[in-house]
Amino acid sequence: MKTIVISNRKGGSAKTTTAVNLATQLAQEASVLLLDFDTQGHASIGVGCAPSESVGVHSIFLGATLSETFIPTVHDRLTLSPALVFFDVYEYSDLRGVLRSRFKREKIADFFDYCIIDTPPTFDALLKNALEVADAVVIPFVPHHLGVVAVGQMMRAIYQSAAVLERPLAEVGILPVMFNPHIKEHHEALEKVKTAFGKEKLFSPIGVDIKLSKQFETGQPVVLAAQRSKGMKDYCTFTRELLQRMDG
Ligand SMILES: Nc1ncnc2c1ncn2[C@@H]1O[C@H](COP(=O)(O)OP(=O)(O)OP(=O)(O)O)[C@@H](O)[C@H]1O
Ligand SMILES: [Mg+2]
Repeated sequence: MKTIVISNRKGGSAKTTTAVNLATQLAQEASVLLLDFDTQGHASIGVGCAPSESVGVHSIFLGATLSETFIPTVHDRLTLSPALVFFDVYEYSDLRGVLRSRFKREKIADFFDYCIIDTPPTFDALLKNALEVADAVVIPFVPHHLGVVAVGQMMRAIYQSAAVLERPLAEVGILPVMFNPHIKEHHEALEKVKTAFGKEKLFSPIGVDIKLSKQFETGQPVVLAAQRSKGMKDYCTFTRELLQRMDG
């Protein structure tokens, strides 16, 4: 099983949109587990479910097994562990390694080809738990100055996590989102990211497409839509590029 964490501390940078479309696209040909680690529960909504008030992925921090939180979604091969909507991470002092130990003890890797984790826009124990199991981290970012700063901060967090656990560094990819080719600042931001982190880390950008916002109303990720859209095309290209990198 390959675990792909979608994260950026900056809010509103299309983490959830990316997690939902990536997970669903992968599920066309593989078995996929989606963990909605953000208590907002938007990834759960994105795959036709709802965040839970009783049992969700955050229940593992309260003693539950991960498997008991699994529910079916809009796609046969996509399983969701929904967000536990009122879980307050700051009520607990030491949550390190919980997800890692659940993965190991429940042999989660034997049941799925991919695990996608949507993370909250915070640098907290939830994000750290996710980074501890990451084979790859995708950082979606809106291409402007603060977006570039946020990518730098995420890069440091990823290096730090690998160093603390003495585990190999996750494969890191940076995904420009809501990219508008007519805006000069967007091109400048891409250049800054290439210079700072290497152009091989950048994926082809995701353009602006209102269908990517509308999909949350219907619980149908755009990659499942009958009609092709720009958002669908861009997320299919991104998934292909990610798989090439992970296999290469
Ligand atoms: N390419 C796009 N084109 C148009 N709208 C988009 C695009 N990507 C995301 N959006 C919209 O932008 C908003 C933020 O996206 P999303 O919720 O995926 O970000 P996020 O990083 O998960 O946010 P949060 O930090 O709150 O978890 C949403 O309303 C989403 O529908
Ligand atoms: Mg989100």
